[in-house]
Amino acid sequence: MTTRFEDTLKTFQQRAEQALDRWLPAASLPPQRLHEAMRYATLGPGKRVRPLLVYAAGAAIGASQDALDGSAAAVEFIHAYSLIHDDLPAMDNDDLRRGRPTCHRAFDEATAILAGDALQALAFEALAKDPALTVSAETRVQMILTLTTASGSLGMAGGQAIDLAAVGQKISLPELENMHLHKTGALISASVVLGFMGGGGTDPLLGERLRAYARCIGLAFQVQDDILDVEGETAVIGKPQGSDQDRDKPTYPNLLGMTEAKATAQRLCDEALAALEVFDQRADTLRDLARYIVKRDR
Ligand code: IPE
Ligand code: IPE
Ligand code: MG
Ligand code: MG
Ligand code: MG
Repeated sequence: MTTRFEDTLKTFQQRAEQALDRWLPAASLPPQRLHEAMRYATLGPGKRVRPLLVYAAGAAIGASQDALDGSAAAVEFIHAYSLIHDDLPAMDNDDLRRGRPTCHRAFDEATAILAGDALQALAFEALAKDPALTVSAETRVQMILTLTTASGSLGMAGGQAIDLAAVGQKISLPELENMHLHKTGALISASVVLGFMGGGGTDPLLGERLRAYARCIGLAFQVQDDILDVEGETAVIGKPQGSDQDRDKPTYPNLLGMTEAKATAQRLCDEALAALEVFDQRADTLRDLARYIVKRDR
C-alpha cells in the first residue's frame, strides 16, 4: 500500500464518518436505546470500504466529493444493518464485531433487530433527501432503485438467504460464486454505481467498465473475508476467527483449498484492474482499493 493511498483512505474514512454522524439521530433523542444501538453499530471501527468506493468512483470521473456524502452514508447504513442481522443468533450467532460485542450482545436482540430495520430506512432517507446531491430527480430515483435492488431479495438479503440454506451443504463453485456475488458483491457494486451516478456520470462505456470492476472486487472482497476467517487473528479482524468453520459454511478456502482461494482473489484483482484501463490517473484510488481488498488483514 502506498503512502498516498493511506492518506486518501484516511481522508475518505473521516469524511464518511462525519456524514454518518450527521445523518444518524442523536443518542439523546427518544427512543434513546434504539438510537444508541444504531450509532453503536454504525460508528464502530469499520473500514468504510463501501463509502470509499462511492468517493473513489466519483473521483474517477472528476466529480466533487460533496455531492457523494449522502450516497456514501446510505451504503454504509445498509452495510451496518446487514452486519447487525448477520450476527444475530438466528443467523451467524456471533458475539464479536469490529472488536466489540455485537449489537445484540451490547443491547438486546429486539433492539438489534430494530436498529437494523431503522438503519435500512435511514439509508433510503439519506439518498432521497440529501440536499448536496445535485443530480436530476430522475437520476436520484435511479440511484434509490440501485440501492433497493442491491439490498433486497435479489441482492444482499437474497445472498444471505442462499448462505443460510447452504449451511452444512456441499455446493458447487458456480453456486458459491453466486452466493458471494449476492450477499457481498451486490452492495459493493451498488457503491461504485452510486459514486458514478451521483457524480453525474452518464457515459455508458465508463458505467459498464465500472460495473465490471465492481463485480470483480465485490467477489474478491468476500473471497478474502473467507480467507481471513481461516488465517486471520480474532484481535486483528475484530470478529471471531473460525466462525465459518464452526457453522459449517461453504467458503472459497474449503471448496478450493487455501492456495487456489488466494489465487482466485488475485486473479479477480487483476481482472478488476484491467476493467479500469479506459480511465486515467483519476481512477488510481479505485486501483489501490482493488489491491487493498485482496491484501488486507482485517
Ligand atoms: C464484513 O464487511 C462483512 C462482509 C460483507 C464480508 P467488512 O469487512 O467491510 O466489515 P467492516 O465494515 O470493515 O467492519
Ligand atoms: C456477511 O458474510 C455478508 C453480509 C451481508 C453481512 P459473513 O457472515 O461472512 O460476514 P462476517 O464474516 O460475519 O463479517
Ligand atoms: Mg454470514
Ligand atoms: Mg457473519
Ligand atoms: Mg465472513
